Amino acid sequence: MVNKYLYLNTIGCQMNVYDSEQIAMRMAALGYQQTSSLEMADLVIVNTCTIRAKAEQKAFSFLGRLARLKKKKPGLITGVGGCVAQQEGEKIFKRIPYLDLVFGTQAIDRLPYLIQKIEKKRCRIVDIEQADKPHFKEANDNIAPASQVSRFVTIMRGCDNFCSYCVVPYVRGRETSRHPDVIVNEIKELARSGLKEVTLLGQNVNSYGKKEGLCSFTELLARVSQIERLLRIRFTTSHPKDFDEDLINALRTNEKLCDHIHLPVQSGSNRVLKRMNRKYTKELYLDKVAKLRDTCPDIAITSDIIVGFPGESEADFDESLDLIRTIEFDGLFAFKYSDRPNAPAAKFEEKVSDHQMKKRLQILLDLQDTFTKKKNQALVGSCLPILAEGFSKRQSSGNLNHAHQAVQWTGRTSTNKIVNFYQDDNPEGCDGLSPGELVDVKIEKAYSHSLWGRPVEDKAAAKRLKGDRSYAA
Ligand code: SAH
Ligand code: SF4
Ligand code: F3S
Repeated sequence: MVNKYLYLNTIGCQMNVYDSEQIAMRMAALGYQQTSSLEMADLVIVNTCTIRAKAEQKAFSFLGRLARLKKKKPGLITGVGGCVAQQEGEKIFKRIPYLDLVFGTQAIDRLPYLIQKIEKKRCRIVDIEQADKPHFKEANDNIAPASQVSRFVTIMRGCDNFCSYCVVPYVRGRETSRHPDVIVNEIKELARSGLKEVTLLGQNVNSYGKKEGLCSFTELLARVSQIERLLRIRFTTSHPKDFDEDLINALRTNEKLCDHIHLPVQSGSNRVLKRMNRKYTKELYLDKVAKLRDTCPDIAITSDIIVGFPGESEADFDESLDLIRTIEFDGLFAFKYSDRPNAPAAKFEEKVSDHQMKKRLQILLDLQDTFTKKKNQALVGSCLPILAEGFSKRQSSGNLNHAHQAVQWTGRTSTNKIVNFYQDDNPEGCDGLSPGELVDVKIEKAYSHSLWGRPVEDKAAAKRLKGDRSYAA
């Protein structure tokens, strides 16, 4: 078979990362090998996101770049998938005349067929199934992907929440859960080929299985945690309105569940939360966080927040700042509000100016930064199990007579903080360590977005550092 190459550009959330892996697997079956060189590609696919206007612009600016390539290589096949494709459909052909394929968020299983048709007939295709109905037909032709330490696995698609600012329900359709047997089998297969950590994905994992009467999310977690060789389980996203004691208890008792929860709050003002259609109040959010911290004191909490939602006053914004001060999140993703097609808030009046939004965003990020640093700093001196994900070799600078390659490993704490260990100043060591192993690392330095530490070789010392009482006795 002649070697053909696929260049795959993924923009957007973890769902798109998972979908892109599915695309790559299906294309591999057609003989397309993945490449990181655009020049080499015979097929270019961009998996797009439209959550904010900027993400959409990113997709179009990439597509714009393909014009030159297509001129040089007329046989090149170009396709757009994901949320912009679902949103814009055929209209994309007007904007990008040389494009061959537009496929929606539910057309991934049909992709091999679509590409083969284009290869043979050189036709242009739009495959956009309406996104407003339940979906997710399971394909039978799943091919095991290459081994990886950590992966995303989608457990449910779509969303039924209709937050007034959000485009997801319109481009991903109604909430649909995958069958637990299918999910468990997929993760089992991945664990057999080396997977150690899985992140279960859904827009609102707490409502998993409810509509279909499958099993509850915590039941699914219990099943996944029984998978041999799998060390860690993460999940995202929890919607505060559905986040419940069941899950809090699972976080306490399930050893494989990581000490981290992403619980997007969006705003600290009840007035704004109501207009966002979030269906909870600031008080309810604070109450749930207090219960969670009572039960799981070591848990890291991260969140999403939007500044400049239409009608957000200075007082509303101050309430968001207050909430951040009260909770002290471990990390926060903050976004300037962006009007989205179909989302009701696009029609709301009292738009906040971009200048105001920029100002508010900066104030909020500066405030959060103090807490992120404080939380990271508090870990200095402790010894934490890190899942070694990968390493990079670096030529060490300094003594020319002793030129050596320093190996820098990277991994995460259970609380999802990035830890680097063995940097240039400590080139020896990490003998025999391979990706996927849990290593006890003593944290020595804290930065804004990562930690730095050294592995503790001596297990007894690691226990002492962790304050393990059974050791002291
Ligand atoms: N399902 C998840 C979030 C998915 S979108 C949840 O409900 O929490 C990821 C984040 O993008 C959201 O949490 C929100 O903070 C942000 N976002 C979504 N739509 C946006 C918009 N129109 N403008 C700015 N930020 C937005
Ligand atoms: Fe969007 Fe709200 Fe659904 Fe999250 S829960 S995907 S913010 S509509
Ligand atoms: Fe973007 Fe679609 Fe995800 S809009 S955030 S890629 S669900």
